[in-house]
Amino acid sequence: MNIREEYIKFFVDNGHKQIPSSPLVPENDSTVLFNTAGMQPLIPYLMGEKHPYGKRLCDYQKCVRLTDLDEIGDTTHHTFFEMLGNWSLGDYFKNESIEYSFDFLTKVLKIPVNKLAVTVFEGDDKIPRDEVSAKRWLDLGIPKERIAYLGKDDNFWIAGDSGPCGGDTEIFYFRSDEEAPTNFDPDDDRWVEIWNNVFMEFYQDEKGNITELSSKNVDTGMGLERIITVIENVNDNYKSSVWKDVIDLISDIAKLPYEGNEKEMRIIADHIRTATFIIADPAGVKPSNTDRGYILRRLIRRAIRYAKKINIDINGDFALKISELIIKKYSEYYPELNNKDVIFDVLSSEQQKFSRTLEKGLREFDKLIKDESYVNKDIAFKLYDTYGFPIELTIEEASLRGMEVDTKGFEEKFKEHQEKSRTASQGMFKGGLLGHSEIETKYHTATHLLNAALKKVLGPETYQMGSNITTERLRFDFPCDHKLTDLEKKEVEDLVNKWIEDDYPVTKEEMSKEEAVKSGAECRFIEKYPDIVTVYSIGDFSSELCGGPHVTHTGELGHFKIKKEESSSAGVRRIKAILE
Ligand code: ALA
Repeated sequence: MNIREEYIKFFVDNGHKQIPSSPLVPENDSTVLFNTAGMQPLIPYLMGEKHPYGKRLCDYQKCVRLTDLDEIGDTTHHTFFEMLGNWSLGDYFKNESIEYSFDFLTKVLKIPVNKLAVTVFEGDDKIPRDEVSAKRWLDLGIPKERIAYLGKDDNFWIAGDSGPCGGDTEIFYFRSDEEAPTNFDPDDDRWVEIWNNVFMEFYQDEKGNITELSSKNVDTGMGLERIITVIENVNDNYKSSVWKDVIDLISDIAKLPYEGNEKEMRIIADHIRTATFIIADPAGVKPSNTDRGYILRRLIRRAIRYAKKINIDINGDFALKISELIIKKYSEYYPELNNKDVIFDVLSSEQQKFSRTLEKGLREFDKLIKDESYVNKDIAFKLYDTYGFPIELTIEEASLRGMEVDTKGFEEKFKEHQEKSRTASQGMFKGGLLGHSEIETKYHTATHLLNAALKKVLGPETYQMGSNITTERLRFDFPCDHKLTDLEKKEVEDLVNKWIEDDYPVTKEEMSKEEAVKSGAECRFIEKYPDIVTVYSIGDFSSELCGGPHVTHTGELGHFKIKKEESSSAGVRRIKAILE
């Protein structure tokens, strides 16, 4: 079954007009790098402008999401994905929208009702609990044990910080060979979200004020890759028909099986597909050191790095072969991909630039860090300047070796260099990815505070299993056998915010490993460090062996807020938090 075509047909038969996929690079919005959801090109119409195609629309929209780039390599994440969407611009609302989704899933895709569950918005002080949606689901045959009411973190949707928004209802599918339990537990990972219906009736401005939109709209999104995986009953997106031939090709090129090399092959497949689509986009993005060009460069270089890991000849034509297959698979739906010459030119010239120096760079890297406890700015800059390592790649390589990178120092050096050479573009620090290390430094310190607060609230046996920082948020994984209660989350937030308000100095001390262990500092990866290590301490509650960088006083951090608390894997919870 061709789900994309069935979806469009279903909504067209129900009075919707199909609109073409918009370019990846937004045409009239310079605030985002790429479209991240099907609704983005429709924002003016959700705000009240009249759409030339009418009030009922549907499409498949290409999207790129980069917030969790480091999660690519697992079974479900992609940087590029397609979103199937249908919209009502002031036409039908909750009842019809829910019925359309239900009919498409159960009648067209023939998913048994027993495999479905839903969440609806439990409401807050401004917006009432969504009993309308709950009742509609109930009437259609979803039992009440399969309807969960969740709060704003889960069932309220907005793209970024401001714009049209509203409560939503999300549909989940039970992905497992076992019988679906009677009661729906949204935290049970076997329930995967497949469709999100947002009831957009509000507008939120940058300050968080909410007003009503001129009309009540519906915005829905269903990830094509995910629904295909569900229907094909595989437990790994890359084993579905979306990817199988691409993975087979990579496996052929590498002369290695997929099993045992999954992460590398998924990253190569994902990144080359995204790069192919970015290059083909009408905006004509080329690899560079700013904005979108920098993303493109990072994707291509990271794919090359992972190709090398599985012994693919990175001076050969592996990237073009993969890109060619992507073009063949998708050009029927995205005619811009027919511009094969340009795609190949850009890909191969970027590949040539990087593959020549990669091997030397990696050797040099290991040599330079041999006697270091962290990757200092000179090493990071040399890898960037001489060997073309995007800083994120250096960070990734460093973390595999249990080391941190002085990104702040790197950035300073980068700026100096820029001024000296007078040639580099200003844009990198205005809109590029490297311009925010001040915020990354803050997140780094916030990570230490969060670690300490979790120990106070959950008990001293919890610890940091993994963490990741972007300019947007911090992510923190820790062992814990239960979903945090609202009270626990609040206690953690309050504690971190109190420590911020109390404006503790962050002190840095060098000492021997033995002293560090004796002092009770948290020492992860201690075997990788040389004899003298750096310990960062805050008050009497936090002390960690760490390469930094950190702010000098906790008061610099602003307000700490947990945005999400979810399961990461068995017995491991994950928090995503922001500073505002
Ligand atoms: N805009 C909604 C989403 O992206 C449908 O999930």
